Amino acid sequence: ELGFAGAVRASLNEVYGAYAITVMHEDFPGELIVARLGSPLAIGLGDKEFFIASDASPFVEFTKEAVYLEEGHMATISLENGVNIFTIKDNEKVEPAIQELRLNLEQIEKGGYEHFMLKEINEQPRSIRDTMRGRLLVDEGVIKMAGIWDHLERINKAERIVIIACGTSWHAGLIGEYLIEEFARIPVEVEYASEFRYRNPIIGPKDVVIAISQSGETADTMAAIKLAKEKGAFVYGICNVVDSSIARVTDAGSYTHAGPEIGVASTKAFTAQLTILSLIALKLGKHNGNLGNAEFMSLIAELDAIPTKVEEVLQSSHEVAKNIAKQYVDATNFLYLGRGYNFPSALEGALKLKEISYIHAEGYPAAEMKHGPIALIDENMPIVIIAPKQGHYDKIVSNVQEIKARKGQVIAVVNKGDVQVSSMADHVIEMPETSECFSPIVAAIPLQLLSYYIAVYR
Ligand code: M6R
Repeated sequence: ELGFAGAVRASLNEVYGAYAITVMHEDFPGELIVARLGSPLAIGLGDKEFFIASDASPFVEFTKEAVYLEEGHMATISLENGVNIFTIKDNEKVEPAIQELRLNLEQIEKGGYEHFMLKEINEQPRSIRDTMRGRLLVDEGVIKMAGIWDHLERINKAERIVIIACGTSWHAGLIGEYLIEEFARIPVEVEYASEFRYRNPIIGPKDVVIAISQSGETADTMAAIKLAKEKGAFVYGICNVVDSSIARVTDAGSYTHAGPEIGVASTKAFTAQLTILSLIALKLGKHNGNLGNAEFMSLIAELDAIPTKVEEVLQSSHEVAKNIAKQYVDATNFLYLGRGYNFPSALEGALKLKEISYIHAEGYPAAEMKHGPIALIDENMPIVIIAPKQGHYDKIVSNVQEIKARKGQVIAVVNKGDVQVSSMADHVIEMPETSECFSPIVAAIPLQLLSYYIAVYR
């Protein structure tokens, strides 16, 4: 006789794949069994009640205490015996680690906004400030990051940094590559975690891996980290969710402090990831001597001004984005173009649009347009082009000329006061100027708003 828990355990040992499940049995009405492998599971401990969810936000309203089930563990839950945890494989008992939840209700409510996505877009001045708080000390000319400081030698001596992530976090990684290579001069490769884990990559003790994940639970990223660790690499995590699986499994790391991201489209987590990557790149560059003091000081002052610039662009672009969105609700395709630091911005803009409006969209480096995608451009093709003054402005001007020659509809994201691109574009969204390396943080806002309003109108 295996009993209820025994039967579930025996079955799970036959199960292949990832799961987070709750099992009920009509013969055992007072008991629930939960188990996880590869997917997160949190148990809320209430007063004579329990809650089960994939994270704590759905039950924070009812209790401040939770147990996060570890990988490969199961638990029996009943009012009579409380929570008892065992390993699925060997039935070994594990002491439950009860955690005090730091989430508050306000963070996970819509707060009067129509959607979480809109709330989270608007929160970015605060979330970026929170990400910098205590780390960027402009007056002292210092970037303080304990995770980096404790392993500075290891990271600076890395033969190569490999960034692994998925989706939006992968786009942040691409910008991280530009930042770290420019300021710290350490070679960087960026890989989709889902490819990395399945392709027998060359990775070893001289490599440093940076894993980026908002949720800290993405199964592909987790598996890629495990593989990198097995091969002896040092793994640094950039996560938003405190105590998430990735945050716990990495050797060191930095939290983004963006606060809970409830909307499925990643917005504030993305700009917080870019903030952390900027801090890391500047800190490494300053320390290894590739970034001189004067340039460092001017860059940190510029980074410090980013939340205010994000505030400005939020104020000025809601209405503009709404009006443009109205005109393109029926579009079936979009192209997003950008160069340099804003090539990944183009990828991210396109992903946001696809994900929430269900319109097909492609992001491209603007210079690649002539190698194929130009054939798609006609009067029915809206093209979002990210064209800040710094970087490759002249080149972008010629790209816009080429698009207009084929009658494409140009939606240009430009700096305030821009003349050349604006005079050719059909629609213009303005943003404040900043250094090229930080411009993806500011440019993300109008792109998020555009996709949000298009989705709302559709
Ligand atoms: O939680 P993670 O950052 O690991 O998630 C990775 C992707 O699934 C995620 O960024 C996804 O692409 C976003 N929903 C896009 O908005």
